[in-house]
Amino acid sequence: MKIPFRHSIQQMSGYVSGEQPQGDGWVKLNTNENPYPPSPKVVAAINNAANGRLNVYPDALATEFRHVAAELFGVGPDWILPANGSDENLTIIIRSFCDPNDTIAYPYPSYVLYESLAAIQDCRVQRIQLSDSFHWDVEAARNICGPSRIVFAPNPNSPTGNRWTDEQLHQLLPDAGMLVVDEAYGDFADSPHRGELLRDDRFDRRVIVTRTLSKSYSLAGIRFGFSIADPEITAGMHKVRDSYNCDAIATAAATAALQDQDWMLENRAKITRTRQRIMAELPPLGFTVSPSEANFVWTVHDSGRHKQIHEQLKRNRILVRFMQFADADAEHGTLEGLRITVGTDEEVDKLFDALKNVVATVC
Ligand SMILES: Cc1ncc(COP(=O)(O)O)c(C=O)c1O
Repeated sequence: MKIPFRHSIQQMSGYVSGEQPQGDGWVKLNTNENPYPPSPKVVAAINNAANGRLNVYPDALATEFRHVAAELFGVGPDWILPANGSDENLTIIIRSFCDPNDTIAYPYPSYVLYESLAAIQDCRVQRIQLSDSFHWDVEAARNICGPSRIVFAPNPNSPTGNRWTDEQLHQLLPDAGMLVVDEAYGDFADSPHRGELLRDDRFDRRVIVTRTLSKSYSLAGIRFGFSIADPEITAGMHKVRDSYNCDAIATAAATAALQDQDWMLENRAKITRTRQRIMAELPPLGFTVSPSEANFVWTVHDSGRHKQIHEQLKRNRILVRFMQFADADAEHGTLEGLRITVGTDEEVDKLFDALKNVVATVC
């Protein structure tokens, strides 16, 4: 039987997300989740919502959530567009702005989901090649970004963990298209942004900041994200999103999470402390570590045996992310390495106990 998929769906391979192992006893440092639980106030809000009126549709506009988020980012509520996880932010954006054959661009290596979303929308992709220090050549970037419909820039970037300045991001603004600054890891940055780009005239209001509750607010299991942009932009995006894209339980959880900033900031402080520790303990084992402003660390080993290190750690029930960015331009070749999510200190103890043996055996 030949299944009549659209041509582009037939051709694409589909995004492969990080492994979610079954069973207990794993040290899971592969998908940048927060190792700490969400605020007890979030759990109370979930229980409250579950005991509420689940037989009726949720507030399609997530009114309370939008007010709370707006206050946090110093904008009006109509600048906030809620989504079922930040990946849905990205889907809504690409469906709102891209016609078939339009071009999207993004720094490479980075979040390759942008390429899958482009393929689904029949769009072309241009990669802005990053140098070894994770920067772009300004002229080459201008040539790519100028005519692009959307440029996606995660800031801090994943998997590299570095963060670009507003000045640098401005170099990526398309001539007439949109710049999407994906701040999935924004709260872990040294001085987190709260919507500054949206008020910066240089960006001509053609900027969308995307945020997720999955990382800093410990809610990856709930699925909630939001876009922040000029109300004329969010008004257009409202036409594209499903009317009830966020359910009552997730919306209640997300609202309570934003209202408990102390909880988030305490976990953020623990994570950034443990990040420093990981960055200090990797080099003596032969790893080179990139400076990180996120809740993960990108590292390469002198031996180049990243796949083997990953596999041996997995035998010890420790999961980190082995990543390979093939197909970069000829000058740069394939980049590969390990992305290690910052866990609790106990998890990191286990990681290093295992890593010492693994490096001694496979490298
Ligand atoms: C750069 C980046 N953007 C967006 C997301 C999606 O986040 P969410 O869990 O809210 O869909 C991720 C998740 O890993 C990410 O790394």
